[in-house]
Amino acid sequence: MTDETAAPHLQADRPHPARVYDYLLGGKDNFAADRAAAEAGMRANPHSRIPPRENRAFLRRVVRHLAAEAGIRQFLDIGTGIPTSPNVHEVAQAVTPEARVVYVDNDPMVLAHARALLSGSVQGRTEYLDADLRDVDKLLASPALRATIDLDQPVGLLLIAIMHFVGDDDDPYAIVARLLDALPSGSYLALSHLTGDFDPAAWEGVAAVYRRSGVTMQVRAKPAIERFFDGLDLVDPGVQVLPAWRPDAGAGAPPTDTQVSVYGGLARKP
Ligand SMILES: C[S@@+](CC[C@H](N)C(=O)[O-])C[C@H]1O[C@@H](n2cnc3c(N)ncnc32)[C@H](O)[C@@H]1O
Repeated sequence: MTDETAAPHLQADRPHPARVYDYLLGGKDNFAADRAAAEAGMRANPHSRIPPRENRAFLRRVVRHLAAEAGIRQFLDIGTGIPTSPNVHEVAQAVTPEARVVYVDNDPMVLAHARALLSGSVQGRTEYLDADLRDVDKLLASPALRATIDLDQPVGLLLIAIMHFVGDDDDPYAIVARLLDALPSGSYLALSHLTGDFDPAAWEGVAAVYRRSGVTMQVRAKPAIERFFDGLDLVDPGVQVLPAWRPDAGAGAPPTDTQVSVYGGLARKP
């Protein structure tokens, strides 16, 4: 699909986070407006390609940990993004073929690729919801979600690189608390979030690029990111800059904290 022939609902004329992220990861599912925003972001912060890569690696490690070490069999991945292999169902079902995954995103481009997200193991199940994180009640009431995930059994809630797109005006802590309220004891929250702690000027520049396009992006300091885990039991090593969270054996030298600028953690609901 060229930019000119894109369906109007894809809003090819303005950047969308899922497509900017796809471009930064080297994907092809993006339009000129997304590429321009990504390039402007890279002028503000030349390391902009590193956070998406580290996020994907964190997602893989955290899902593998949940499936293999914590016995989690159901995953709710909100802010899925354009499919990038391996995705959650591939990682989880490699450990436990019966794993069930519900993907959620509010970007029409992700919806256009939903079929790629819905292929999974025969024993397991995957489902895709076109829904907005900020409307928690509607999301949780979705029949497709209820048919795939048993909310009486522990769930791995994945909020990977999405909460920095929810500004304080939308009360992000209340959103996460309401999602967790709906999940039973023994469920987990995995969350990663951009921070300006190591290079405030660069990240203010990136946020400004998004703002000019009408997209909210709010980087947060470590204590504000740790607050998402309030009331939960953090799994070791707590909230860390991503490469320091349970690195794979034999992983090479990690990028610097400044280059990564994303904190992440995993915690269990008591
Ligand atoms: C940076 S991408 C992260 C993708 C993936 N989680 C990862 O880490 O590789 C953020 C995703 O969140 C989605 N998103 C942003 N705000 C959202 C909202 N309010 N409801 C649902 N999805 C949202 C965007 O469309 C985008 O696909």
